[in-house]
This record gives sequence, structure tokens and C-alpha cells, in this order.
Amino acid sequence: MTKKLAPSILDVDFTCLERELRKIESGGADLLHLDIMDGNFVPNISFGPRIVESIKSITSLPLEVHLMVERPENHIKSFINAGGDIIIVHYETSKHLDRLIQNINEAGVKSGIALNPATTLSVIEYLINKIDILLLMTVNPGFGGQKFIPEMITKIEKARKIIDNQKKSISLEVDGGINLDNISKLIKAGAEIIVAGQIISKSANPEMTIKKIKNILN
Ligand code: DX5
Ligand code: ZN
Repeated sequence: MTKKLAPSILDVDFTCLERELRKIESGGADLLHLDIMDGNFVPNISFGPRIVESIKSITSLPLEVHLMVERPENHIKSFINAGGDIIIVHYETSKHLDRLIQNINEAGVKSGIALNPATTLSVIEYLINKIDILLLMTVNPGFGGQKFIPEMITKIEKARKIIDNQKKSISLEVDGGINLDNISKLIKAGAEIIVAGQIISKSANPEMTIKKIKNILN
């Protein structure tokens, strides 16, 4: 499977969001990663469906919504209506994850489950065939610019094996602390979609950085 890059806009300059999006597009991003934080499940607060809707109106990149919120069932609809193409929910936030995934699938968008670094892979045993994306957090969610947790390499390798044993095609995505030095290791371990935040948004030339990452990926 071709490897994909999903830049996160969490730490871009929001006073010039459109300009930042254009840089991401012209660098060659494959999709846009939107980090939704509620100040409860994670300590930070980011943005909501209104911003997602605005982004949708000015880009044709697929929008991946990473929901880091308590009670995700209350928010799924508004993010789908806002234009989310992929909705990712955290295992740790839902008491009825099977129902939630079913609702996302029935809405006609792609579904994903995110796992915190400390959450074992076995929790998705009975759900893996119902999702399109498994997102492994490689930092504790909440902030950009954190350090990659090295133990996650083994988790990625294990997830790769689980996914390879399924009939359905499921993409393996990694998120947090990713930089030019560790990308190859992640790909080798089996990751297919790479989320990258500050390495792009804080670089002097985001467009070039995206191109560099894409070169490593393909
Ligand atoms: C962290 C978010 C990430 C974040 C990644 O909670 O889910 O998507 O934006 O940022 P970097 O790449 O800076 O670690
Ligand atoms: Zn994220």
C-alpha cells in the first residue's frame, strides 16, 4: 500500500489558516489531520465543527477528524455534517464503541479507532473488521511537539501482524512525535499513514518539509 502523509494543523498559524492550508496542499499532503480536543479527555482545547466546515469549503483534501473528546457519540454527527471524511474515535472515550463505529459506518464515512500509548491492542479484537483505520498514538494525546515514545515501535509491529491477518484492508496510522529521523523506522515497523504536526508547521519551509517527508515515504 502506498504510504500517506497527513499533516496536522493543530499548531499552524490560525490567523492565516488558508495560507497555511495552501502550503500543505502544494507540498503534496495526502489528507488533512484535524485534532479535536475538548479539555476533558485531553488537557488541551482546540477547535470544533465550525472550523472544520470552513476548512472543507476551501480544500479538496480528504479531512480526517481525530476526536479527542469525552462522549464522542454526542459529536459524531456534527463533524460528519461539517465535512469530515474519516472519523476517528478513541477507544478510551466510549462505553459502546461497537455501536459508535456502526453509526459512523452507516453515515457513509470512513471510521477509525485511536489507541492511547498505554492501551493494549487486544481491545480492538472484535472491532478490527469494522473499521478502516487503526490509529496508534505515539505520544500521549493533547499537545503537538511531544517526544515520540520508543516502545510504540513494538506496538506498531504487532498491529501490522494483526491487520495482515484480516481479509479487510485496514490502514495503520501513527500520530505524535514524528520527525525526519524516525519516519523510516515507523514505516519499517508497518505504519502506512503518518501524521506530522510541528515538524511541518514549525519548519521554516513547510512545503519543502512535506516534500522531504513524502520522499522518505515513497
Ligand atoms: C496529539 C495530536 C497530534 C499532534 C501531532 O494529541 O493527536 O495529531 O498534532 O503533533 P506533533 O507531530 O507535533 O507531535
Ligand atoms: Zn492527532
